[in-house]
Amino acid sequence: MTDDVLPHKRDAESSETIRRQYDELAELAGSLAHEIKNPLSVIHMNIDLLSEELAELDSPMRQRALNKADIVRQQCERMQALLRDFLRFARLREIDLTPGNLNDQIDRVLRAYEAQADQDNVDIKRYLDADLPSIMLHSDTLQSALMNLVKNALEAMGRGGQLVVRTYSTRGGVALELIDDGPGMEDSTVIHMFEPFYSTKTGGSGLGLPTARKIIEAHGGGITVQSEPGRGTRFVLAFPVPRRLS
Ligand SMILES: Nc1ncnc2c1ncn2[C@@H]1O[C@H](COP(=O)(O)OP(=O)(O)OP(=O)(O)O)[C@@H](O)[C@H]1O
Ligand SMILES: [Mg+2]
Repeated sequence: MTDDVLPHKRDAESSETIRRQYDELAELAGSLAHEIKNPLSVIHMNIDLLSEELAELDSPMRQRALNKADIVRQQCERMQALLRDFLRFARLREIDLTPGNLNDQIDRVLRAYEAQADQDNVDIKRYLDADLPSIMLHSDTLQSALMNLVKNALEAMGRGGQLVVRTYSTRGGVALELIDDGPGMEDSTVIHMFEPFYSTKTGGSGLGLPTARKIIEAHGGGITVQSEPGRGTRFVLAFPVPRRLS
């Protein structure tokens, strides 16, 4: 055995060990989240029942007690949403991909957000390439990634703005661009935004972007971002087109 083989072998072994430990931890975290779900829904159900009983009491303490029960309910709902997002993030592994069109996927997502965009005065401009080749995708999962991105853009723009959505062919693939003219992001946010639980929003789980990236990567694709404070944010998603589909 030569000297230069050993370090490589050691590197491969240690990265394999780290991967295995990571997988074990992810599995444990997933099981823990799952185990918390049931007691939490019992707490939620009982606080609802307690509120109903409190509402019937004839006591000066009634309103104060009801307010406290309400806080418990809101926090329960927040934890349930967090667990749902976390389990979605942790469970995503191998997915079965079949041929499909990226235009259809983004179209369905935009339709789902149409009413909210109208209400928020957000104008959605679509420039979808009609000749876009198919890619290999898992419809529900990919749509949930796109929903996270569209939701973020709408939340960022708040009351009014423009969201430009473009699809086009690239060399060897297809791309989807989402450009909003919201407040943009400071570099400190851009650096952390793909980390699980990083959020600048009150009540945000910070799992939207990490989940979206994991899903896009499970499709063999990638996601990049450019953002400028005060000007807006541009996400670009790139997916490969297998030769037999092009
Ligand atoms: N289009 C955007 N414009 C401005 N900031 C954004 C945009 N998209 C993401 N961000 C920033 O990235 C952070 C992380 O986003 P991510 O979707 O992971 O979590 P979140 O939106 O805060 O919470 P959740 O998705 O669980 O509701 C956001 O809190 C926000 O600061
Ligand atoms: Mg989000």
